[in-house]
Amino acid sequence: MRKQFAVVGNPIEQSRSPELHHAFAEKTGVDLVYRKRLAPLDGFEANIREFFAEGGVGMNVTVPFKEQAFALCDVLSERAKTAKAVNTLWMQDGQLHGDNTDGQGLVDAIRALNWNLDNTKILIIGAGGATRGVIYPLVQAGVKKVVIANRTLARAEQLVADLQQAVPQAELSTIGLDALAGEFDIVINATSASLSGDALILPDALQFQHAYEMAYGKPSSFLEQAKARQIPTSEGFGMLVGQAIESFSIWNGVKPDLKDFL
Ligand code: ATR
Repeated sequence: MRKQFAVVGNPIEQSRSPELHHAFAEKTGVDLVYRKRLAPLDGFEANIREFFAEGGVGMNVTVPFKEQAFALCDVLSERAKTAKAVNTLWMQDGQLHGDNTDGQGLVDAIRALNWNLDNTKILIIGAGGATRGVIYPLVQAGVKKVVIANRTLARAEQLVADLQQAVPQAELSTIGLDALAGEFDIVINATSASLSGDALILPDALQFQHAYEMAYGKPSSFLEQAKARQIPTSEGFGMLVGQAIESFSIWNGVKPDLKDFL
């Protein structure tokens, strides 16, 4: 029987994971089926237990269930522990394993753009789950300084207090969104501002060489301002493909090349 995979979320119709995983499977010769599963808001656990009981091999988890998935796992990767969220599940020896591939997806997407990460200073705008999920892999990839800017400064401070211990080789600090300034190799927009159509203001006192918007397919004032500075920019499609590739490689033991799918 073909290996069964799925992505579970609510809503789920918009998910591009099945087309991505089928493309990876075709490229690598893995025989699999990857489907979407809509779980009721109060039915996440029942949904995943049923999937694995029926012989499913691996599942991706998307909004709004990543924190619940984290709480249900018997075994967690370091990066899932730091993210406090899980987007990749599988069963091994009767235990539910959880990982989080979002941050590695971002790292691989940035590397595919040939932007350097080693010894860099990065500004991340936003202090929600998206930011929490990428700090550990970014530091593992060589980032030395991470400044977190957030509209609600206290939330950024809380995140730094939570995460600094997990990444002792890097220096984490905060800045208010209304006080953006300094020089950075890369600025990453991890807010949901572009999803809600809100503008972020990047003042002249903020200097940077590259700009990455984690969202994709939406107009982004962040990207427009970066493009006006005529520096390299990218939006989050590479990260989406990158996280899918990382999940695929955990489950199937073969890692497709991100550049083949951009
Ligand atoms: P996610 O899991 O996608 O990170 P989240 O936890 O809701 O979602 O976090 C959303 C982030 O976008 C937060 O950093 C939020 O700032 P606050 O903590 O101050 O709420 C940020 N955000 C959302 N809309 C924004 C806007 N219009 N301007 C600036 N920041 C915004």
